[in-house]
Amino acid sequence: MKVLVTGATGNTGRHVVRGLLDLPADVRVLVRDPAKAPGGVEVVQGDITDPAEAAEGVDAVYFVWPFYSAEGIDKAVKPFKDKKIVYVSSVAAEDGGFWGEVEESVKAVTHDWTFLRITGLATNTLGWVPQAKTGKVRAPYGQAKRSLVHEKDVADMAVKAFTENHGKQIYLVTGPEALSQARQAEIIGQAMRTPVRWEEQPLDEAAAQLGEEFAKSALPYWASLVDDPEPVSPDVAKVTGHPARPFDDWARERFS
Ligand SMILES: NC(=O)c1ccc[n+]([C@@H]2O[C@H](COP(=O)([O-])OP(=O)(O)OC[C@H]3O[C@@H](n4cnc5c(N)ncnc54)[C@H](OP(=O)(O)O)[C@@H]3O)[C@@H](O)[C@H]2O)c1
Repeated sequence: MKVLVTGATGNTGRHVVRGLLDLPADVRVLVRDPAKAPGGVEVVQGDITDPAEAAEGVDAVYFVWPFYSAEGIDKAVKPFKDKKIVYVSSVAAEDGGFWGEVEESVKAVTHDWTFLRITGLATNTLGWVPQAKTGKVRAPYGQAKRSLVHEKDVADMAVKAFTENHGKQIYLVTGPEALSQARQAEIIGQAMRTPVRWEEQPLDEAAAQLGEEFAKSALPYWASLVDDPEPVSPDVAKVTGHPARPFDDWARERFS
């Protein structure tokens, strides 16, 4: 089996490459900058919006769509017609939006699709690290409870999707528990051996920092998680055979 990994320099993609090489499988990566490509794989330089050359001759693709719009998606998925597509989607696809549009475009080109709908990646908290080092994280909605997932769990799911029969499956990919953002910051502090406290950031200040487009969807979503935490799914354990990795483990791996 020959698999194309897109986003191979990213948080999840780099682990997908490693997992596939361990099988072993034949791996090609599509990267914008070949200097950043992982070792031991075939490298095609290009852009995800126009992956025709990279798609030639592969059986399957780990597909990331790192944009906040579905514009251009039909051109991007067309070269993967009738191939296996494992798409890193979002829990937000449940409500349609551009995530849902991307899923529909994938379904339109192949019957062999698997969607990994993530609540949030633990790596999202890396943005807090410079502040955490000073002992304080100033951000909005400290009491929003998120079931952040370890990037290696996403990769383990993808490798299973490539090697077993997971066609036409939508998996909800989460961590093992929903933790408040303030607690996440505290855990990062413990791993760094620096006590970290949460400081609630006024929403107008947060919106200015996050950028208009992202703030428009992120702030109401985080607000909703104060009373209605993100779900915790059994799918990582069901598909990979091991429990989802806890946020504490992720933080310890990163910072201690
Ligand atoms: N973060 C979350 O909580 C979350 C939640 C739900 C879904 N997702 C989805 O998960 C996907 C994968 O996340 P991740 O954390 O593994 O990725 P990531 O670390 O954010 O990296 C993005 C990857 O996409 C590549 N990329 C960006 N623009 C590209 C382009 N125009 N053409 C080709 N490659 C391009 C980047 O390559 P370069 O090295 O060239 O920059 C990088 O490898 C995201 O794209 C997002 O759609 C994320």
